[in-house]
Amino acid sequence: MKIFDVKKIRADFPILQQKIKGKPLVYLDNAASTQKPYSVIERLDHYYRYENSNVHRGIHTLSELATEEFELSREKIQQFIHAKSFAEIIFVRGTTEAINLVAQTYGLSQIKAGDEIIISHMEHHANIVPWQILCSQTDAKLRIIPINEAGELLLEEYYRLLNPKTKLVAICHISNTLGTINPIKQIIDNAHANSPKTKVLIDGAQAVAHQKVDVQALDCDFYVFSGHKLFAPTGIGVLYGKQELLATLPPYQGGGSMITEVHLERSHYREPPYKFEAGTPHIAGAIGLGAAIDYLNQFNFDEIKQHEQQLLNYANKNLQSIQGLNLIGTAKEKTAILNFTVNDSRGMRIHGHDISDVLNTEAGVAVRAGQHCTMPLMQRFNVDSTVRASLAFYNNKEDIDALINGLQALKQLFR
Ligand SMILES: Cc1ncc(COP(=O)(O)O)c(C=O)c1O
Repeated sequence: MKIFDVKKIRADFPILQQKIKGKPLVYLDNAASTQKPYSVIERLDHYYRYENSNVHRGIHTLSELATEEFELSREKIQQFIHAKSFAEIIFVRGTTEAINLVAQTYGLSQIKAGDEIIISHMEHHANIVPWQILCSQTDAKLRIIPINEAGELLLEEYYRLLNPKTKLVAICHISNTLGTINPIKQIIDNAHANSPKTKVLIDGAQAVAHQKVDVQALDCDFYVFSGHKLFAPTGIGVLYGKQELLATLPPYQGGGSMITEVHLERSHYREPPYKFEAGTPHIAGAIGLGAAIDYLNQFNFDEIKQHEQQLLNYANKNLQSIQGLNLIGTAKEKTAILNFTVNDSRGMRIHGHDISDVLNTEAGVAVRAGQHCTMPLMQRFNVDSTVRASLAFYNNKEDIDALINGLQALKQLFR
C-alpha cells in the first residue's frame, strides 16, 4: 500500500497540471466524470501500438494477446468488487446500458402486469427511465421511496412499499446530486426478507471511486457502474449479476460472440458473461478499466474516504461565509458532493449557469450546473437548477479555497 499523499497523487494526473483561463485547473466535476492517471493513458497507448486486435476470434498472436488482457481485466474487476466468479462480470457501455440490460432481460422475462418495481426520489434518470419503459411494456407499477429535507430515504416508507408484488428494488448506492450514501445493506436485506423473488439492483456509479464495494457481503443481485467515473475511459462499464440469476436470463442483444451455434431457424447461446456481450466490445476501454483498478489498488479506500470527508468538512465550514448560499443535500451519511443554490443580496436566485461561468472564468474552477439528470429530485426541492461541486481523492484544500474565492467573486458581481 502507498502512503496517501495527495501531492504525489495529483502528479499522476497530467490534466491537473493544466491552466484554465490563466489559472491552475480546479476540477470539481468528478461526479460527472473523473480524470485519468498516466498509467491508464499509457495503457491505452500501449494497447493500440502493440496489442490492437479483435478478441475471442483470431488464432494469431495479437488476437490471443488482446483476449488475454481483456479477460485479465474482467478478473481484476471481479476481485475489485469481490464477485464470486468472472462469469458475473459483464462488460457494457456504462451504468445506463447496464440498467437497460437488466430491465430488458430480467425485467421483461420476470416482471408481469400488476408487479411492482421500487425506486427512490433521488435516482438518476438512468435508474428511472428504463423502468418506466419496462412498466409501459408490461403494465407493472413503479413505486417511489420518498426522501426528507436532508435528502435521506424515508426507510419506513420503503418498508411499507414492500409487498408480495415487489419484483425489483433499484436504488443508488450514492446520490449523484445530493451525495447521500444510502443504507443499501439494510435495503437489500429487507427486500430479500420480503420475498426470495424480490431482486435488488444497486446503481453504484457514484460509489465505486469512493468506497470499497463487496458484492458478496452486500448480497445484491445486480450492481452496476461506469468506468469513466472510476478514472478509466468512457464507453466501458460493468454489470455484476449473481451467476445463478444471470443463468436464467434471456440474451440482451443478438449477434456475434454471444452464440455457440447459429442456424437459419434458431441459435444456441453461450453461457454468461458472453451471452450478454454481442458484437465487438470496447476492448481498449476494458483493458483501461483494468489499469485504473491496478492504479487504485495501491491505495487504501479507508484513507481515500477519510481524505474526502476531511475536505467535505472543510468545505461545509467555509461555504458558510457565502451569504445567500443554500446547500441541498445535508444527509448525515454523505460523500464529498456540495450541491447548492446562491441568492444575490436582493434574495434573487442566481442561475446555476451564471455561477458555473463565473467560477470558471474568475477561478478556473470546473463545476456542474443544471439538473444533474435528476429532474424529479429538483422538483422535490423546488429548484430548477443547482450547482454541484463533486470531489475525488486528488482534490485538496487549495481546490476548496479556489471554490470559495470564486463564490466571493460571484457575490461581488451579483450584488
Ligand atoms: C448515480 C448515477 N447513475 C447513473 C449514471 C449514468 O452513468 P453513465 O452516463 O456513465 O451511463 C450516473 C452518471 O452521472 C450517475 O451518477
